Amino acid sequence: MHQYTVSDPSALETSLLEFLAKSKTDLELENINCIFNSFIPQLANHYKLFCQSERWNSFINICNHSSLRKILLEDPYTRRSVEKPRGYAGDACLIDFMYKLSAPNPSDTYFGRELFWHLMESSACQSVRWRALHLAEKIDEVHQSNQKRINILSLASGHLRELHYVRDFDQKVERFYGIDQDPRSNEEARRSLPYLQLDIREESILNVIREKYKPNRPLDFIYSAGLFDYLNDKVAQKLITSSFRLLAPGGRILVANFAPDLVEQAYMEAFMDWYLIYRDENQMEALAEDLPISQVGEVKTYRDAMGNVVYLQIIKN
Ligand SMILES: C[S@@+](CC[C@H](N)C(=O)[O-])C[C@H]1O[C@@H](n2cnc3c(N)ncnc32)[C@H](O)[C@@H]1O
Repeated sequence: MHQYTVSDPSALETSLLEFLAKSKTDLELENINCIFNSFIPQLANHYKLFCQSERWNSFINICNHSSLRKILLEDPYTRRSVEKPRGYAGDACLIDFMYKLSAPNPSDTYFGRELFWHLMESSACQSVRWRALHLAEKIDEVHQSNQKRINILSLASGHLRELHYVRDFDQKVERFYGIDQDPRSNEEARRSLPYLQLDIREESILNVIREKYKPNRPLDFIYSAGLFDYLNDKVAQKLITSSFRLLAPGGRILVANFAPDLVEQAYMEAFMDWYLIYRDENQMEALAEDLPISQVGEVKTYRDAMGNVVYLQIIKN
C-alpha cells in the first residue's frame, strides 16, 4: 500500500480505495499481515478524519461492495456480527469468541481462521476479556467490604462468563439475579454454572425501568456490561435511576461502556455492521444526574488497562 501521512487525507483515501478495488484472488495472494498492519490502521485514521461526514457513509458503501468484505466474512466473528442470528450484532455467542471460549470450525477457511485469531488480539477484544475479570474482582471487593454473603443483579447477563472467575462463589453470594431478554443465552448461563443461588430470568431491562421486575431482597451490587453501549442517554439514565432504588444502603452500581476513539470502531462499522454508542467519562457521569443527591455516596469513573472502556461506579449512602 502507498505511504501516506494523516495530514494528507486524499492520499490516505486513495490508498484505501486501491486496496478495496483488489480482486479476491489478489487479496488472497496478499500477506494477511497487510490487512492488519496496513489496511486496518489506515481505516482507523480515515475514520478519525471523516466519521462526522457523509464521506464515511459513502466509504462504507464502497466497503460493502468490495471483494475484501467477502474475504473478511470468512472470519466467523465478523460473519456472525453481519448475519446477526439473534437480531443484533453483539450477542452472547459473539462475545464468547472475544472471551476465546469459542473458536472457528474446521470448515472455516485458512484465511478466515487467520483473520479470526488476529482480531481476537485486538485491543477491543482484550478489553472485553479484561471486563469479565474485572467484574469478578468487583464481586470479591463488594463481598469483602460487606463482610457477609452479598446479593447481586446483572443487567443483560448473557452467558455470565465472569462468574467462572469468582472463587468460592457459594461463600460470597447469597442470591445472584440475572436478567437477559435472550432465552438461549439464559439457558447457556444456567447450564454452565452450577450454583443454586442463581435466579436468571427472561426479562427486558425495560421492566426494571417500569418497576415490573424487582428482586425480592435489596441488592449490594448491580452491574452491567455490554448493554449500555446500545442504550440511548434517556434509557440509560432511567435504568441507572431505577437500579439505584434496588440497592441496599452501601450498595453499588457498576456500568461499563466503550469509550470514543476505539481503534476498532472503524472496522466494526465498515465491515461488521456493528454500531455502538460510545461514551467518555463526562457522558457516563451525566447518566447519574437524576439520582437523589442526598443518597449518593460516590460517583466515579475510570478506564480499563487498555483505555477502551469507561466504568461508572455509583455507591449509595
Ligand atoms: C454483549 S452481550 C453481553 C453479555 C454479558 N453481560 C457479557 O458481558 O458478556 C449483550 C446482552 O444484552 C442482552 N440485552 C440486550 N438488550 C437487552 C434488553 N433490552 N433487556 C435485557 N437484555 C438485553 C442480550 O440478550 C445479550 O445477552
